[in-house]
Order: sequence, then structure tokens, then C-alpha cells
Amino acid sequence: MHAPLPIAYTEKGTGPALVLVHGFPLDARMWRDQIAVLARTRRVIAVDLRGRGASRHIAEGPWTIDSHADDIALTLTRLGIARADFVGLSMGGYILFALWRRHEMRLRSLVLMSTRADADSDQARANRLRTAERVLHDGTDVLAEDMLPKLTAPTAPIAVIADVRTMIRETPKETAAYDLAALAHRPDATADLCRMRVPTLVVHGAQDTLIAPASAETMARALPGAHFELIAGAGHLPALEQPADVNAVLAAFLSRPGALP
Ligand code: MLT
Repeated sequence: MHAPLPIAYTEKGTGPALVLVHGFPLDARMWRDQIAVLARTRRVIAVDLRGRGASRHIAEGPWTIDSHADDIALTLTRLGIARADFVGLSMGGYILFALWRRHEMRLRSLVLMSTRADADSDQARANRLRTAERVLHDGTDVLAEDMLPKLTAPTAPIAVIADVRTMIRETPKETAAYDLAALAHRPDATADLCRMRVPTLVVHGAQDTLIAPASAETMARALPGAHFELIAGAGHLPALEQPADVNAVLAAFLSRPGALP
């Protein structure tokens, strides 16, 4: 594995730092609607994980979920940010579990969106590794075709689907393959949940078919004092599909009493 690398990010606003971590195979553009609104009260940093977006030149692989967490920690150090609130969607959530394991002191709070604590089953792992081979051979169009129908609720606006398609197709195929291997080998965080004392909000789309809402609710119950918010009319990408509702739950969580020590 390679040493941590500073990665690129979109930054807007001033105030306490809020770090947004995108899912697979997307990039920081997925947070456009959150950046616009949350930057009114926060210094928002939406990272482009290594190998894509403005970090596409930082493509040294293979990598792991821990590599992404370490890249974020290093990038925050370079920005002079000791602690932050973090929002992670799906793979971004797996990366927040890694940040908790490896850089707990950095975490003021967590928002786990469209994510899960458990590892892949043997079959899911084998499927991912097969998909990585296909992507390397045929490119990320394969991923767009496979994933697009599963990522959003049937009612998602065409413009959202078009944006997601663009992000998937613009992800370099090597990046997608390295991520797929990292996802396949990620550790199970289930046993950590009861020890995670950091204030946490779990947000999930009511129509997510990739990760069942019931499993997110179970995860929320296992996290001491976590809150659970179900977003109606959203599949796996509530931040894009229902931005107003997501912004409202994020703003309420970030402004709860005691949110800022
Ligand atoms: C994501 O949205 O980041 C992926 O669906 C995560 C996964 O496949 O486990």
C-alpha cells in the first residue's frame, strides 16, 4: 500500500469544518446541493478521494478503505483542521468507520448516510472482484449500466440520473477497480458500533434497494445515542434525490444543543 497522500477538495464557507465524503463511483460533485446550503454556517470541505475528480492525478493503487481515511486525515492536517463533523455516503460511510478506528480524535460528529457496518458476504466479494475485472476490460460504462437502475428511486429526476451517469463515466476505470477491491476487502465494523460514542446521525433513503432501510435502522440502534432519519422519495442517493430534506436533517443535527464544544 502507498503512503497517505494529500487529496483535492471543494471548499466553501467559514466556520467549524464539515467534511463530506462521497460514495462509489462518484466524486465531490454529488454534494453540490449540500455545499451550497451548509456553507452558510460551516467551512465545508467536499473531498475528491484519490483517483477521481480533481484528485484524478493521485491514482497510485492498489488502495484500501483505510488509505482513503488516511488521505483525508493528512489533508485536514495540511489545512490546519484538527477536528471536524463528517458526512459519508455509502463507501463514504465505510471510510468514516475507518476514520473512527484510525483517527478518532478528529471526529466531532458523524453522519452515516446510505451505509452499512457489515462486510461483504463471500458471494458479494466475489461479484465485486469479477466486476473489477470487467471494468478494467470494458471501462466504466459497464458500471453505469449495472448501477444506475439501482442507485435512485424510480421517481428520481432525469437531471439527477444524468449527473450520476456523468460522474460514473468520468471515474477512471483503474480507480473504479481499485475501489471495488477496497470495498470487497473492507473490515466488518459491526462490533465497533457499541463503542462509538461520537454523536451520530444515520440517514437513509426509504426506497434504497442496495442497502435495506431496516439494516440502517438496526445499525442506528446499535450506535449509542444515534438518531435515525428516513428520507421519503429517495433511493441510495438521498443527498442528490431529496436535497432539501437531507439539508434540513443535516442542519438540524449540526445545530443541535452541544454540537459545538
Ligand atoms: C456506494 O454507493 O458507495 C456503494 O454502493 C457502496 C457499496 O457498493 O457497498
